[in-house]
Amino acid sequence: MVSPDPVAPLAGQLLDDRYELLEVIGEGGVGKVYRARHVGLDRIVAVKVLHEALVEEAGFVGRFQREAVAMSRLYHPHCVGVVDSGVYESRPYLVLEFLPGQTLRSLLSQGRLDAARAVQIALQLLETLDYFHGHHVIHRDLKSENVMLVESSGSKDFVKVLDFGMAKILTGPGADSQLSKIGIVPGTPSAMAPEQIYQLPPDPRIDIYATGILLYEMVVGTRPFVGDMQAVVKMQISTPPKPPRQILGQAALSEELEQVIMKALEKDRVDRYGTANEMAAALRLTPEGRTVSTSLGPAGPARRRAPHPRHLALSAGAALALAVAGVLLWPKKEVHQEPATTTSASSTPPPAAAPAPAPAPEPAPPAAAASPTWIEHRDKAVAAAKLGQGDAVFEAVESALRDGAATASADNALMQAAVSVIDRKHTAFVVKAFRSNAQLAAALIETSAQGAAAEQRHAAYEGLRMLGEEARADVVAMRILDVEQASTCPVMRAAWKQLRAAPDPRVKKFRADLRSRGRKDAHVRCLKTLLR
Ligand SMILES: Nc1ncnc2c1ncn2[C@@H]1O[C@H](COP(=O)(O)OP(=O)(O)O)[C@@H](O)[C@H]1O
Ligand SMILES: [Mg+2]
Repeated sequence: MVSPDPVAPLAGQLLDDRYELLEVIGEGGVGKVYRARHVGLDRIVAVKVLHEALVEEAGFVGRFQREAVAMSRLYHPHCVGVVDSGVYESRPYLVLEFLPGQTLRSLLSQGRLDAARAVQIALQLLETLDYFHGHHVIHRDLKSENVMLVESSGSKDFVKVLDFGMAKILTGPGADSQLSKIGIVPGTPSAMAPEQIYQLPPDPRIDIYATGILLYEMVVGTRPFVGDMQAVVKMQISTPPKPPRQILGQAALSEELEQVIMKALEKDRVDRYGTANEMAAALRLTPEGRTVSTSLGPAGPARRRAPHPRHLALSAGAALALAVAGVLLWPKKEVHQEPATTTSASSTPPPAAAPAPAPAPEPAPPAAAASPTWIEHRDKAVAAAKLGQGDAVFEAVESALRDGAATASADNALMQAAVSVIDRKHTAFVVKAFRSNAQLAAALIETSAQGAAAEQRHAAYEGLRMLGEEARADVVAMRILDVEQASTCPVMRAAWKQLRAAPDPRVKKFRADLRSRGRKDAHVRCLKTLLR
């Protein structure tokens, strides 16, 4: 039964006997977001339900599910936590931790931000992006409506990134299906990088551009390009943004900060920062950046480089022609979401700056009051895994499973935490606990190859066998046999027996390879003993 309220048609409904929808708290291009109560746990959550009209539209249910996959793969303090997902009367929904705060868009409707406060927010975003990109996920729709600020750790500006509906997963399960096939170009024109408009294969520099737009919007009060869609599309690809100091005067922000913003907004991605870390490092060197501290440490370990730069292939005119011809379509809602201000930034004096920023917080787990208990245990497991504290990880994993068996056993962050400290004592436990998580095998394979300790590699290998992943386990066994002192390792002796029985022609090739290399080092001698 649907309530007659057209604004919140599902308010009062109980979804899957668990989530009582209370009232609408937000709406975007694809869904309405309700404040809701998990009746069993008596906890407040947020439930995002796909718009009814979009259920029938090819691609939108997929987009929604992609959001669930993308978000459940990620765990980061600055990313909204996914608690559950389901389908209610053929409408998919996502259950999220409830964020008691406001969007950056709504904060900016009260006026632009002090430059140092803007930098503090941008540094948190870049920390989040560094994490996403390191996990092969590009957000693609980063904009002020998709960033919430909550109070946490004594700061009112604790960033939470929302809305992974447009996320592009570069590898693995859930890998992107082509939205463009259904006439949807991911993104929002006024926050879109030129290469998104040209529909070039996306890479993380799309999010760097969007961060540049966000910084500009925070510092200046409006996005660099505003107006009707066609005008914005044209400006995104061909008009340089007006430097903020020309609009605001020199006292509003330092020259260095302006340079960082302008570099992030370069039309050609080759000229932008290559990584979020690089941009964060540049921001920290600005006078505004030197006054704030965030948990984003100095440039971390080198990440996978972005794909080789590609120059923009179409002229501005050609791209605009495409847009006009209707090749580029955005869901109508997102066009409506453009900021109401359509006057140019230069003609509208920005409102007074907001008060000076509070010191940046250390990242904290999602607000405890908003998350079911298993999430709190997951947070502990993830934190302990970072410190390599195996016992603490497994203790927290057990507690999480006890408090929310179904969701915890399908949760990626929890599974990754367990696999990252796996040892042979816990292999069977991990396999039993996360067997239902489709990504467990991939995580085990990664662990077996990541330069982990031998004990871990062997546990991962055994885990694959327990999962019934025989073929992949054979490949892993070959790899392990090739790099370690096989004769000292009972697991690998057993692995070798398995391999001899394996019908896989790669095994034969492997044996032949070892022989033909003529290597004489100790471990090959061991292998040769095994090979006999
Ligand atoms: N977890 C949450 N807690 C509180 N409010 C939220 C939450 N998620 C979304 N919102 C609100 O709902 C709006 C739309 O959410 P979003 O996920 O961006 O939907 P869409 O994909 O339709 O754009 C946001 O701008 C925000 O105001
Ligand atoms: Mg949104």
